[in-house]
Amino acid sequence: MNTRTRQMSWLYGFVVLVLAAALAACSGTPKPADEGAKPSNPGGPGEAINLTGDAANGKTIFEQNCVSCHGEEGKGGVANPGGAEETVPALNPIDETIANADYKTFATNLDLFIEHGSTPEGDSPTLSMLKFGDDKILTPQQIADVIAYVISLNRK
Ligand code: HEC
Repeated sequence: MNTRTRQMSWLYGFVVLVLAAALAACSGTPKPADEGAKPSNPGGPGEAINLTGDAANGKTIFEQNCVSCHGEEGKGGVANPGGAEETVPALNPIDETIANADYKTFATNLDLFIEHGSTPEGDSPTLSMLKFGDDKILTPQQIADVIAYVISLNRK
């Protein structure tokens, strides 16, 4: 190898290194999928996500079980003294990390809250999300129906 060839191969190696570093920087750290709003209580999705929900029926279930905390049509505005947020979250429009273009993903994100409940951050939140599934307040079909209604509120 003469001096010139050696210099060239060194240069080539250097260029490859710089390109590799640039590529790694561009791809960035992948965003973990679980960064969105998740309930404080543990547990996986329930039977409801495999059922077909009826939004009209879900509206009635919503009015009987959810309006008191989430407001008319889920528009929020209900005070939650002692909670870090001070109001119960609105479901219409819903947190953008819960909403999803894919129906089943959207339904699963909602279902986790409805099945297992969730306690807001803060010293002493007055209101907590109830465990409608775990405490058998609603049947899986009723949960599927209320999910269909909440999704319909967010798909206009
Ligand atoms: C006793 C009051 C109460 C009732 C009744 C209630 N919720 Fe909730 N819900 C809450 C609170 C408080 C939160 C916030 C929980 C948290 O921050 O961890 C919440 C959170 C949620 C969330 C997650 C929203 C977000 O942005 O994080 C969904 C979805 C939800 N509720 C759906 C429902 C549905 C559907 C019903 C009726 C079947 C219902 N809730 C009934 C109090 C209630």
